[in-house]
Amino acid sequence: MEFCSLKASIGVILYSLVIRFLAFQCCCADANSTLVVSASNARQISNTFHGVFVEEINHAGAGGLWAELVSNRGFEAGGQDNTSNIYPWSVIGNESSISVSIDRTSCFERNKAALHMEVYCGGQKPCPYGGVGISNPGYWGMNIEQGKRYKVVYHVRSERKFDFQLSFTGIDIIKVASYRRHVFGDRKWKRVETIVEAQATNHKSSLQITTIREGSYLLDQVSVMPLDTYMGHGFRKDLFQMVADLKPKFLRFPGGCYVEGDYLKNQFQWKDTVGSWEDRPGHYDIWNYWSDDGFGFLEYLQVEDLGAMPIWVFNAGISLSDAVNLSALSTYVQDALDGIEFASGSHTSAWGSLRAAMGHPEPFDLRYVAVGNENCGSVNYQENYLKFYEAIRSAYPDIQIISNCDASSGPLNHPADLFDFHTYTSSDGMFSLSTKFDHTSRSGPKAFVSEYAVWRKDAANGSLLAAVAEAAFIIGLEKNSDIVQMVSYAPLFLNIDDRRWIPDAIVFDSYQLYGTPSYWVQKFFIESSGATFLDSTLTTTSSNKLIASAIIWQNSAEKKNYLRIKVVNFGTTTESLNIYINGLNSDVHQYGSTKTVLTSTNVMDENSFLEPKKVVPQTSSLEKDDKEMNVILSPYSVTSLDLLI
Ligand SMILES: *[C@@H]1O[C@H](CO)[C@@H](O)[C@H](O)[C@H]1NC(C)=O
Ligand SMILES: *[C@@H]1O[C@H](CO)[C@@H](O)[C@H](O)[C@H]1NC(C)=O
Ligand SMILES: *[C@@H]1O[C@H](CO)[C@@H](O)[C@H](O)[C@H]1NC(C)=O
Ligand SMILES: *[C@@H]1O[C@H](CO)[C@@H](O)[C@H](O)[C@H]1NC(C)=O
Ligand SMILES: *[C@@H]1O[C@H](CO)[C@@H](O)[C@H](O)[C@H]1NC(C)=O
Repeated sequence: MEFCSLKASIGVILYSLVIRFLAFQCCCADANSTLVVSASNARQISNTFHGVFVEEINHAGAGGLWAELVSNRGFEAGGQDNTSNIYPWSVIGNESSISVSIDRTSCFERNKAALHMEVYCGGQKPCPYGGVGISNPGYWGMNIEQGKRYKVVYHVRSERKFDFQLSFTGIDIIKVASYRRHVFGDRKWKRVETIVEAQATNHKSSLQITTIREGSYLLDQVSVMPLDTYMGHGFRKDLFQMVADLKPKFLRFPGGCYVEGDYLKNQFQWKDTVGSWEDRPGHYDIWNYWSDDGFGFLEYLQVEDLGAMPIWVFNAGISLSDAVNLSALSTYVQDALDGIEFASGSHTSAWGSLRAAMGHPEPFDLRYVAVGNENCGSVNYQENYLKFYEAIRSAYPDIQIISNCDASSGPLNHPADLFDFHTYTSSDGMFSLSTKFDHTSRSGPKAFVSEYAVWRKDAANGSLLAAVAEAAFIIGLEKNSDIVQMVSYAPLFLNIDDRRWIPDAIVFDSYQLYGTPSYWVQKFFIESSGATFLDSTLTTTSSNKLIASAIIWQNSAEKKNYLRIKVVNFGTTTESLNIYINGLNSDVHQYGSTKTVLTSTNVMDENSFLEPKKVVPQTSSLEKDDKEMNVILSPYSVTSLDLLI
């Protein structure tokens, strides 16, 4: 049966349910808790309730979501002052046959570093077997898979004609793919592009570029991209799919502290991350690694592939260690305005035309921007914020502006459409925060809970305990979804080889991945965006470690309506819960309902590459045609009942 208007015939239904309620009062007398759902008291949850936050941290983008396999592809990472630092490249051959150094004669104006390679062998004396050259391990090994194709691009300058051998090699020195390219040298830079098909699989491969000819070579901007990426837009498919499965309605980017930098010189400067990838200078980021910025401003905006709205966080003229005041702020304000124009201006506008030239003439649907990240405490923030606010409000009146200052317990002293709220705490702390927004003013800006997670001891590398407390917190946010408009967990990704910030939602290496329990908890909430929230009252005689909420959502494929009741038991004992549904203008079908539970035998249980599904939700069918029922809730569990109505 279709779920019809919530308001129609409420009186009649209420009457009949009161009678049934009384009749069923004694059905489960030994239950220690009762949940009464009141379908007659409903409101809509924001369409953007559940989303994701992607920050370049833990090699989430470079060496992660962005599928580029070469690390330090432009040889810029060593910095201007050290001509011998080519990390993570290494040299194949010894000093009697080859020497390399960085010089600054590249054809690319914004990134002048290029690799200068002098090969001494291959003339009078032969080169060692296999040739000499350079090797790049990518980000802890390149995942090269049999039958897959890879686009290899490099730029080279040579005085004489030359042969380069390209190969992908494992530690076993078995070539999984190789290609020989013959180019006439005429002292001009040449772009060489090749498609290579892998003949075998090696998850930890390196790219080798070798030669057996004497000569002097300059090499720059070396790239290896798998051809098989998500929608062909350069995102690693398995990682992107994990995000898509969360059905995010927004994506906040690119940080986090990554936006700020430890100094302003390390901030994410969007203008340095657009245009052709060869022209991007790259930068050393606050999380202590080099980013080639292949994952740039346009690539972040391309999250429209997820059906998610972009939320751009820009630098407010403040880093962790330095800041600019009003006298120097105008370039920052202009950068923000230009960035909005790049994202959402017409393809004929100054910056919109660059976006169009990059292959995206249609404007992106940019409706939200955040002025800075966690900067409210900075002495410059209020002043700087107002300048951004005034400029953006007047140029783009429809764009929603997000302040860093917390309005959850008192008004702001500046105008804002939303305020940003972040929390990292213990599991008990997170459980208590489920009531955080109960008393927030309903007349002020809306809340954007853009970073939350249980961390440290209770979370370890991503425990069930953390996930259950987070579920309780999000239920609390859902109950306050008249003021809480958007919610996202942080951080989303961890490359296991750069364990800088733990825990995270999705853990991966060069070729495998798994979701932590915190990832799976988010799945309980993906139907909440745009759903109908129903009032419910929980009474318990045994513990105050239960929290519950109820929504009505529609399955978009089959257009079936479900009443979803979510209950978290954050206590150490089993709970017996009676549920009564009042005021529902339709029946619960006997078949088609399900029950989904996330729990485990040990509260500190985690997932891992060896046991990726140790702690994941288990769904079973539920035969119910009643509006009364009893459920048993295991200690430390998240339960969701989807009743087909
Ligand atoms: C330059 O880089 C190399 C390789 O990383 C390193 O061994 C050397 O100490 C660096 N020199 C300076 C002056 O930083
Ligand atoms: C360099 O390598 C060659 C063989 O590849 C070897 O004969 C020679 O001794 C090596 N030279 C040095 C200085 O290590
Ligand atoms: C603004 O910053 C500049 C440079 O940091 C400094 O010289 C100047 O005194 C500051 N002005 C104010 C009003 O704080
Ligand atoms: C977390 O992961 C690290 C690295 O794999 C491991 O050494 C550590 O024991 C793990 N911690 C827990 C609590 O499992
Ligand atoms: C709640 O009820 C269940 C089932 O009757 C029982 O096992 C449990 O001990 C009760 N919990 C408390 C805290 O009383």
